Amino acid sequence: GQAWAIVPAAGYGTRFGGGLPKQYVEVAGMPLIAHALEALLSHPGVRGAMVALSADDPHWPGWDEIAGKPVLRCAGGESRADSVLAGLQALPEEVRADEFVLVHDAARPNLRHDDLGALLERGRNDPVGAILAAPVRDTLKRAGDDGGIDGTEPRERLWRALTPQLFRRLQLTRALEAARDAGIAVTDDAMAMERQGMRPLLVEGDEENFKITTPADLERFRFVLAQRGQ
Ligand code: CTP
Ligand code: MG
Repeated sequence: GQAWAIVPAAGYGTRFGGGLPKQYVEVAGMPLIAHALEALLSHPGVRGAMVALSADDPHWPGWDEIAGKPVLRCAGGESRADSVLAGLQALPEEVRADEFVLVHDAARPNLRHDDLGALLERGRNDPVGAILAAPVRDTLKRAGDDGGIDGTEPRERLWRALTPQLFRRLQLTRALEAARDAGIAVTDDAMAMERQGMRPLLVEGDEENFKITTPADLERFRFVLAQRGQ
């Protein structure tokens, strides 16, 4: 079957700066969130998208469908995790509790179909689910309180978490609620699942599926598109 995608898009892009929340900044004639939605909804494994928006978002272009599939919206929350929770709750009733759902950042515009396909296939064959991730390539230093180096972290087993991430609707809901109730700020969905003792699968994905956090990331995305001739 196909999976619904939740797209948290209720952030204000403080690190990016500027007046317009970064998900609405246009590249190649469309806002970043449209790149993200297009990548998801044009894939045959995706059934529809639930977009979590900030209150009275004046920038949302109001799409009801993309690639012939429904785009629904709900009000997001104070944190990304709250926005994902709101999206999970707002999904249509027909989405079963044990169905796998995707979560993908609105600010991550360069998701390729082969990565999405691999995540869906391998994640569905895992009891818990899976995330796209890229291996760490930098040498990692642990800092002491004085700013001196206390040591070098072995990077062989370290991965950078990307999105989409694929989990069962009810399990992810429970995990995010538990983190929220414990007052723990989770920075991705897998982290909430891990806190519940679950071990999601890492699926290696393309490093070009990066999140736009700063203006330099946007320049990198423009460069990637230009290389591709877009
Ligand atoms: N997000 C959300 N609800 C929030 C905060 C973030 O839906 N309360 C979304 C963002 O819109 C983005 C994704 O989560 O698509 C990843 O978050 P991030 O890159 O941190 O975006 P912002 O929170 O907007 O940026 P910043 O942290 O720099 O303010
Ligand atoms: Mg943020």
